[in-house]
Amino acid sequence: MSKDYKRTLITTALPYANGPVHIGHLAGVYVPADIYARYLRLNNRPVTLVGGSDEHGVPITIKAKAEGVTPQDIVDRYHKIIKDSFEELGISFDVYSRTTTDIHSDTASEFFRRLYEKGEFIEQTSQQLYDEKANQFLADRYVTGECPHCHNPKAYGDQCEVCGTSLNATDLINPVSAITGNTPVLRETKHWYLPLDKWEPALREWILEGHKEWKTNVYGQCKSWLDLGLQPRAVSRDLDWGVPVPVEGAEGKVLYVWFDAPIGYISNTKELYPDSWETWWKDPETRIINFIGKDNIVFHCIVFPAMLMAYGDNYQLPDNVPANEFLNLEGDKISTSRNWAVWLHEYLQDFPGKQDVLRYVLTANAPETKDNDFTWADFQTRNNSELVAILGNFVNRAVVLTHKYFEGKVPAVTELQDIDRDVYTEMNKIREAMSEALETFHFRDALKEAMNIARLGNKYLQETEPWKVAKTDMARVATILNTALQICGSIAVAFEPFTPFMSEKLAGMLKLKDLTWTMIGRDDLVAAGTELGTAELMFEKIEDSAIQAQIDKLQQTKRENELKSWKPAPQAADVDFDTFMKADIRVGTVLECEKVPKADKLLKFLIDDGMEQRTIVSGIAKYYKPEDLVGKQVCFIANLPARKLKGIMSQGMILSAEDRDGKLVVISPSASVTPGAQVK
Ligand code: MF3
Ligand code: ZN
Repeated sequence: MSKDYKRTLITTALPYANGPVHIGHLAGVYVPADIYARYLRLNNRPVTLVGGSDEHGVPITIKAKAEGVTPQDIVDRYHKIIKDSFEELGISFDVYSRTTTDIHSDTASEFFRRLYEKGEFIEQTSQQLYDEKANQFLADRYVTGECPHCHNPKAYGDQCEVCGTSLNATDLINPVSAITGNTPVLRETKHWYLPLDKWEPALREWILEGHKEWKTNVYGQCKSWLDLGLQPRAVSRDLDWGVPVPVEGAEGKVLYVWFDAPIGYISNTKELYPDSWETWWKDPETRIINFIGKDNIVFHCIVFPAMLMAYGDNYQLPDNVPANEFLNLEGDKISTSRNWAVWLHEYLQDFPGKQDVLRYVLTANAPETKDNDFTWADFQTRNNSELVAILGNFVNRAVVLTHKYFEGKVPAVTELQDIDRDVYTEMNKIREAMSEALETFHFRDALKEAMNIARLGNKYLQETEPWKVAKTDMARVATILNTALQICGSIAVAFEPFTPFMSEKLAGMLKLKDLTWTMIGRDDLVAAGTELGTAELMFEKIEDSAIQAQIDKLQQTKRENELKSWKPAPQAADVDFDTFMKADIRVGTVLECEKVPKADKLLKFLIDDGMEQRTIVSGIAKYYKPEDLVGKQVCFIANLPARKLKGIMSQGMILSAEDRDGKLVVISPSASVTPGAQVK
C-alpha cells in the first residue's frame, strides 16, 4: 500500500438520528475508524476523523409522527445521545456534526444546483404511490409490500431487508401505506434522477480495475451491481423533511436522504476547517477512507462517487471503503425496532469506566470478513481471561516487583543477556506485523499481535523468575525488571489505538509522554531512575452477576417481543350443539386447597358441589397460593371420568383461561351462586 499521500480523511457513516447507537454500529464502523485514526496519529501522519448524525430521511419522520413530536425534536434528542456516547467511548472525532446545520443545507443545495446546471440530471415525471387519506406521496419507508425478488411480505419502498435488493416503492407487490394502512394509488409527480448508467464505464474502470485491493466483500458487491447494469436513480422526494430541492418548480420536494447524507462528510469537514477544507477533498495527495457497514456499500462505492464525478472540480474519490459485515447479538440479528441490541449509552451506564473492555471485545470479535456474534459470555471471558489475566496481570507484576525491590524507581540495566535481547527482537517483529495489519484494515489481527506483547511479558517473567533471582543477584533483577518495564511501555503504545483509556493510565504510571508508534520495541522507553506511579490495576474482573443482569435484560426483551407478537389461537373446528351440551359444567365452592407433594404443578381441591364434596386435582400450582383459593367459587366439568393424578383420584376438571404469557387464571362466576349451579 502506497504511503505517498500527504493526509488522510477518514469518514464514518453518519448514523441515523432516529435512535441511539448500538454495538453493531460500533463494531462495524466507529471502533475500526477510531483505531485507524489513532494509529495514523501515533505515526504523525496528518489525519482528520469526520462524523455526524444523519438527520433526514423517512424513519425519522415516522418516529416523530408516532410520538406526536416534530422531526427536529427526534433528531435533537438522539443527536445528543449519540454524540455524548461516542465521546465517552473515546471515538476521537475531529468533528461530529449533523445534517440539520446551515452549512450542510447550503453545501448540499449548492451540490445539487451545480449538477442541475451542468445538466447532469434527468428530469422525469412518473407515477408514484400516493396515500389519499394522508394526502401525501409515499416514499421509501412510508410504504411496505411484497418484495418482487424474494417475496418477503414486509419489504420497504427503498429496500428489501431480507434479500438486500434496493427497490423503488412502485416495485412492491400489494403496497400498503405505513401511515394509514391504506392501499396507495398512483399519482404523477416530477423528480430528478442521476443517470448512474452514464457513469458505469468510469465506475467499472475505477473499482474493478483500479481497486482490486479492496476487501473481497466490498469488491464483490460492487462487481455484482455493475454487472447487473446501473439505472438512473431519483435524488429527490415528495416530503416536507429534508433539504429543499433548490430549483424552481420544486415546492414540497426535498433531496433524497442518500443524496444529502454523504455530502455531510463534506459539510462537516467545512465546519471543521472553514478555510482549508478543500485540501482535504480536492488535493490528489489526500487519501479518503470511508468506514461503513455492508448495507451502505452501494451508496459509497457507486452512488456518491458518481455524484462526485458528475460534480467534477477535482473532488477525490475514496481510496478505500473497508466495509464490515454485521454483528449479531446472542445469535439474533440486531434490531432497533425489536430493541434487540446493546445500546452504547446503556452500556456506559451499566459498566462505568469499562470503555476499553467494549472496544477490545468488539475489535477481537469484529465482523471483518463474515457476520459475527456478540455474546455476554464471550465478553466476560475476554475481559477475565485476556485483559485481566494476560495484560493486567503482567503489568501488575512488573510494577509491583519494581516497588518491592527498587522502591518504585526504574532500575538501570546492568548487563543484557540473550533472553533480554530476544524480547526486543520479538517486540520489533510484533510492531511490524501490527503496522502491516493496521495499514490493510485487519484490526483483529493487529489486536492479536498487540496481545502477544503481553504474552511475551508473562513468558519473560516466568522464565527469568526475578523473585527467585532476588535472593542472590540484585544486579540481574535490575536488568530483568528494566526489561519488563520496557515491555509495559510498548504495551502502552501498542494498545493506544484499541484501548486508549488503559493506555493513558499505563503511560501515566510509567511517566511516558508523547507516544509514537516507533516507541514499540525500544529498550530505552522507560528511563532508568523514573519514579513509577502507584501500582493501579489496568483491568478488573467482571463478576457473573453483572453478566447475568445483561442476559436477564435481553431475556426480558425477548419476552416483551413475544407478547407483542401474540395472537389468539385459531378457532377450533365446529362442534355440534348436542355434543357440547353433554359437558356438565358446574360451579363449586373451594373448601380446602393444598399443594400435591412432589408435584410442583398440581393443587388438590376439595370442592362443595352442592350434593357432596369432591376432590379435583388441577395443574395451576404455579399461579396460585392454595390458601388464596379457599372460599372461592370455581367452574368445573363434573361429568369427566375420574382419573388418578399422582395417586389422587381427581373427579373432574377445574376450568381456567390461559393468558398470552402462559399464565392460567381460574374461571369463577361474576357473583356468588349456589354450589352445584350448572353453567349453560
Ligand atoms: N444513515 C445511514 C445508515 O445508517 C448512513 C449514511 S452514510 C452517509 O445506514 F454517507 F450517507 F452519510
Ligand atoms: Zn427481497
